[in-house]
Amino acid sequence: MYDVALLPGDGIGPEVMAQAEKVLKAVSKIYNVEFNIIKMPAGGASIDECGVPLTEEVLESCRKSDAVLFGAVGGPKWDHLPMEVRPERAILKLRKELDLFANLRPAFLIPALSAKSPLKGEILEKGVDILVVRELTGGLYFGEPKGIEVRDGERVARDTLLYTEEQIRRVARIGFKLARSRRKRLCLVDKANVLASSRLWREVVSEVAEEFPDLELSYMYVDNCAMQLIANPGAFDVILTENTFGDILSDEAAAVIGSLGLMPSASLGEKGPCLYEPVHGSAPDIAGKNLANPVAMILSAAMMLDISFGLKEISEKVKEAVARALEAGYATPDVALPDSKIISCEEMGDVIISFIEK
Ligand code: IPM
Ligand code: MN
Repeated sequence: MYDVALLPGDGIGPEVMAQAEKVLKAVSKIYNVEFNIIKMPAGGASIDECGVPLTEEVLESCRKSDAVLFGAVGGPKWDHLPMEVRPERAILKLRKELDLFANLRPAFLIPALSAKSPLKGEILEKGVDILVVRELTGGLYFGEPKGIEVRDGERVARDTLLYTEEQIRRVARIGFKLARSRRKRLCLVDKANVLASSRLWREVVSEVAEEFPDLELSYMYVDNCAMQLIANPGAFDVILTENTFGDILSDEAAAVIGSLGLMPSASLGEKGPCLYEPVHGSAPDIAGKNLANPVAMILSAAMMLDISFGLKEISEKVKEAVARALEAGYATPDVALPDSKIISCEEMGDVIISFIEK
């Protein structure tokens, strides 16, 4: 029996989460594993219900669970709120409190969807199979001091890009271990020609690399990486990078594979529950219309099955079902091609389940 904390959140969060929940129920029946699902509010939903983006009770339940599945948070309704009480605090607080410092964001091009990529066929020929390993609890997101103040009659603002060597070391080790199970290449992306923090990243990562002599380590400036992701995405295996760069580059990688709706993520710590969430946001423009793509959410659940529960075979089965559904031409509007069978979010969930059952 696995305790899964389910935080659907806002916008399309609840719609895509409902599909992931359906998949877990189907898997539970077929493979005889039990999930104890505990559904709780987060983000705007929690602000409306409890006055804060994440209550202490919800945080405690997440801490006690075996894994957390997170949908998406935020929306125009809460945009006017000050930073400290915005819906986004929910996910930032979970990451920090559960010490989820390593965020894995795989971008894999499904050949049948390559026409959805904005890139030319010739650039995609080699395939795209990138794993962005984003540091998740440091850098500009959490560095102090931070804030806006008035100095000499004008407003000034600052954020602090701070990393300790241990913060770098622990995520680097995860990056290298993952590279070892893949194509054995890790590229550290930074801005070492300008930033002191990046210079420390280079020092520490090159030290950690000595523990992994079988792997190839390279370095790339983030501006160049943004370009190379478009010019030659097939050249990347594992990209290791700090929090903000990882946020930006993972959205870019999602666009390369055709849709933000396809990219899952896993956030890992040293111990305690891991958290799984799609890379996309709450997409308020299409929320409640049954149009959202549930694939990223379902693939996030698949990552949970593998990483948190060791159910690798079942996880593979779910991933395979997703690939087969997409290859068979089933598509939500975001990934639709001229000859696709366009279906709703719910139907996509059903189709994927039917491929799991096959
Ligand atoms: C992401 C999101 C979050 C981030 C937001 C919602 C705080 O963009 O997971 O990529 O910036 O990390
Ligand atoms: Mn982001």
